[in-house]
Amino acid sequence: MSLTALQNARPETAIVLGSGLGAVAEAFGTKEWGSPDPREGGGQLRSREANPPLLEVPYADVPGLSASTVPGHAGRFVLVRHHDKPVLIAQGRRHLYEGLSAAEVTAGIRFMYEIGVKRIVLTNAAGAIHESLHVGGLMLITDHLNLQGTTPLLGGPNFHDMSEVYSRPWAERFHAAAVEIGLKLHAGVYAALLGPQYETPAEIRMLRTLGADAVGMSTVPEAIQARALGMEVAGISMLTNWAAGLRPQTLHHAEVVEVGKTASLYLARLLKAVV
Ligand code: HPA
Repeated sequence: MSLTALQNARPETAIVLGSGLGAVAEAFGTKEWGSPDPREGGGQLRSREANPPLLEVPYADVPGLSASTVPGHAGRFVLVRHHDKPVLIAQGRRHLYEGLSAAEVTAGIRFMYEIGVKRIVLTNAAGAIHESLHVGGLMLITDHLNLQGTTPLLGGPNFHDMSEVYSRPWAERFHAAAVEIGLKLHAGVYAALLGPQYETPAEIRMLRTLGADAVGMSTVPEAIQARALGMEVAGISMLTNWAAGLRPQTLHHAEVVEVGKTASLYLARLLKAVV
């Protein structure tokens, strides 16, 4: 029943949330930002319960979709009201490294397109490669390197143009909003690898040489699919760690999710300003 209600709501804007970014959905649904002034509680979320989600639909209730197997990925659509418009939040995504095909991991994108979504913000957690970035910060994706060896368009007859996957006009709005809220918003190239293992230091040196600024294991199949359907796409990476070999460290998924939780408060603020 709520699936039908979701289809009938015809949201035009959607946000896909990656690892540990569930707090963004909450920030849209039930909570309002406190003052960024530390004397007044420094960017803490203040519960208001004024704007409860309109609908929640588990992926498992959508034909062709299924719940995620990865810790930190909830696996549901949440429909919220923002500036008096319905905004669809996809909380959790599927990954190629789960053993799925590129067509399977992008089924949600095609579903969103079918119910009327025209603009989509894809978020993820990523490792920082470029020295000018900072861990805990956000990077607007300007372009990508598809190093996953596959694409959701496999088998299709069309040679889609990918010269502007990530919308420049939308990027300008994100940068303007970041300035307004006093947030440092980096910009750079996102390289997608298959995973699920993190990279070796040699792979990170290779990616740097290839022009990658950040590295992750998602987003690119979705961006390709959304763009091929004519959607306007934005991508934002939350930089949860330095990529392998750049600092003395070992990488753990739990830490990536933890840093994501903190930085997602900033992401929520940025998204609320732009969407
Ligand atoms: N590499 C790949 N994926 C990631 C990383 C990383 O360092 N951090 C978060 N997701």
